[in-house]
Amino acid sequence: MIWVAGNSNLPHRASRFFIGGYLNPFMVSENLLRELNKQINEELYSQYIYEAMAADLWDKNFKGMAHWMWIQAHEEQAHATIFYNYIINRRLKVELEALAKPPATWASPLAIFEGAHEHELHITSRINYLMELARAEKDFATVKMLDWFTEEQVEEEANTDEAAKNLALIGNDGRGLLMLDREMSTRVFAAPTNPYYTPFFNAGVAAAA
Ligand SMILES: [Fe+2]
Ligand SMILES: [Fe+2]
Repeated sequence: MIWVAGNSNLPHRASRFFIGGYLNPFMVSENLLRELNKQINEELYSQYIYEAMAADLWDKNFKGMAHWMWIQAHEEQAHATIFYNYIINRRLKVELEALAKPPATWASPLAIFEGAHEHELHITSRINYLMELARAEKDFATVKMLDWFTEEQVEEEANTDEAAKNLALIGNDGRGLLMLDREMSTRVFAAPTNPYYTPFFNAGVAAAA
């Protein structure tokens, strides 16, 4: 491959962003790559905290809610896989960081689902930040990949908010809690429709094909 610096007035490093006067489509800035890698950690931490929430719901004897939260955790693992596959498909290096310890107990199911909703708001702000970076760099492939997440976050916020609001409405009514617990036990895992998602046994292969 021949690399041509498009603008000799630019400092050497910056000229790597151009090929023949056009933005180099293979280039992702170090900062954007670091933030994409950080998002793997954010999604894996989401999985981790939701598994901690599921464990606490089991401990509180809400099996249906625990099941719902376990599926939520599994979706987060799939989100992490999308970022992982995206990075390797761009021929860049995945670098994993340590996961933080999530809390072990919450005051109530309401506190758990309010916490989950708050966490989703944080993730939305992360996706928006990544989108800002990708747009500023005119990295359209990353913008397109992130587009799926902007839609996904609308759903993630709505689902957790609905569960928290239902719990707030029910309060300490035992029959209401049991009914909601039963309803939440019916959730099924839906694999993400993002083209970079692949199950673990062929990670990276489908998106590259
Ligand atoms: Fe996620
Ligand atoms: Fe999420």
